[in-house]
Amino acid sequence: MRRIADVGAAVIGTGFIGTVHVEALRRIGVQVRGVLGSTPDRGATRAEALGVPRAYTSLDELLADPSVQVVHVTSPNDLHVAQTKAILSAGRHVVCEKPLAMTAAGSAELVELAAGSGLVNATNFNIRYYPLNQQARETVAGGTLGDVRMVTGRYFQDWLLLESDWNWRLQPDRGGALRAVGDIGSHWLDLMTYLTGQRIVEVMADLTTFIPSRQEPAGPVESFSTDRSGDTVSRPIATEDTASVLLRFDGGARGAVSVSQISPGRKNSLQYEIDGSEAALAWDSEQPDQAWIGHRDRPNEILIRNPALMGPAGQAASALPGGHVEGFFDTFCAHFRAVYADVVAGASSSRPGYPTFVDGHDEMLVGEAIAESARSGRWVTVDRSADPAHSSEGVVR
Ligand SMILES: NC(=O)c1ccc[n+]([C@@H]2O[C@H](COP(=O)([O-])OP(=O)(O)OC[C@H]3O[C@@H](n4cnc5c(N)ncnc54)[C@H](O)[C@@H]3O)[C@@H](O)[C@H]2O)c1
Repeated sequence: MRRIADVGAAVIGTGFIGTVHVEALRRIGVQVRGVLGSTPDRGATRAEALGVPRAYTSLDELLADPSVQVVHVTSPNDLHVAQTKAILSAGRHVVCEKPLAMTAAGSAELVELAAGSGLVNATNFNIRYYPLNQQARETVAGGTLGDVRMVTGRYFQDWLLLESDWNWRLQPDRGGALRAVGDIGSHWLDLMTYLTGQRIVEVMADLTTFIPSRQEPAGPVESFSTDRSGDTVSRPIATEDTASVLLRFDGGARGAVSVSQISPGRKNSLQYEIDGSEAALAWDSEQPDQAWIGHRDRPNEILIRNPALMGPAGQAASALPGGHVEGFFDTFCAHFRAVYADVVAGASSSRPGYPTFVDGHDEMLVGEAIAESARSGRWVTVDRSADPAHSSEGVVR
């Protein structure tokens, strides 16, 4: 059996999150052989800045490199399906960013192809891997909260607040028909399914585009960039700035989530509260090292992340002792450690503990129900009638 230090990886996309993938892979001991940028020049510049040995000039060149066993897809959403198909067809394991595809038809194709290949496939729902979320899943599964009744929360950001804010995510042909829901709501919806062990079966959604036109800069823009100099062109906007969605889960829980990319002051705030018949649990990604546990008949508790006070899953995701704050970057390391255990073993395990393409596809199905509900103004059932039968631990069936 190989060791993790023998595994070679390549990363497609060298923007905000591609950089995080490269650095997290290095931290867990994987050899990053090279990167693929949008152009050979851009790839070369980023490879130099990241200290990566090689900048591939095309996906074909990357896939011809025999030292690469795993490829990470961190390009814009419209490229995920075609690139991932090519990677699987070339016999390489793959970690793809969320949302897995532009449509559920696209993600279904990837589920089928991955299942037939036996290759390791992961969707990067990294938020599951905050140690306190790993702990929360064990807490809910262990029955400490009692029966889960209410699942509520939000995911708010402010980086698209202004008419002058621009990114490829605003274009439906690059980001998908859903924007705030697909981009960040997808994390919240996946996380609640993972933590509760209940699938979302019905939705009632209200989507709003508060900023009907925006100024697109003439040149490319990095995600979260605030440079507003230079010429712009006015573009109509068809994707939602905000969403509010009522949810029904298959285990009987009810829920509600609001999603926004235009909430002043909220940089990256994913919050949830899970109310059970015995206790409640709440968490906020902007204070990720503490969780609130609510009680009726005794004082409420704050659990500070501390491997000494958590169960095995929380301990496994923790790299540092309590009081030494862990955050966003660390979730990538914990997620990749779980994925690369299968890579080292040579194939996907029968019930992977990490989020696979099955989970990425399920979130696409929920997203399509949300879009349909917003269009029709009524409750919509998530259509899993053509759902591939394969499952991972993230979705309890
Ligand atoms: N899991 C998370 O927390 C998280 C966070 C941010 C983004 N994402 C996802 O990661 C993906 C990228 O988002 P981002 O914020 O890094 O965007 P970004 O715009 O910062 O980076 C995208 C990169 O892809 C490159 N690219 C474009 N076309 C390419 C091509 N044909 N081949 C190779 N590279 C190409 C661009 O040059 C750019 O460097 C999206 O799918 C997004 O949803 C996930």
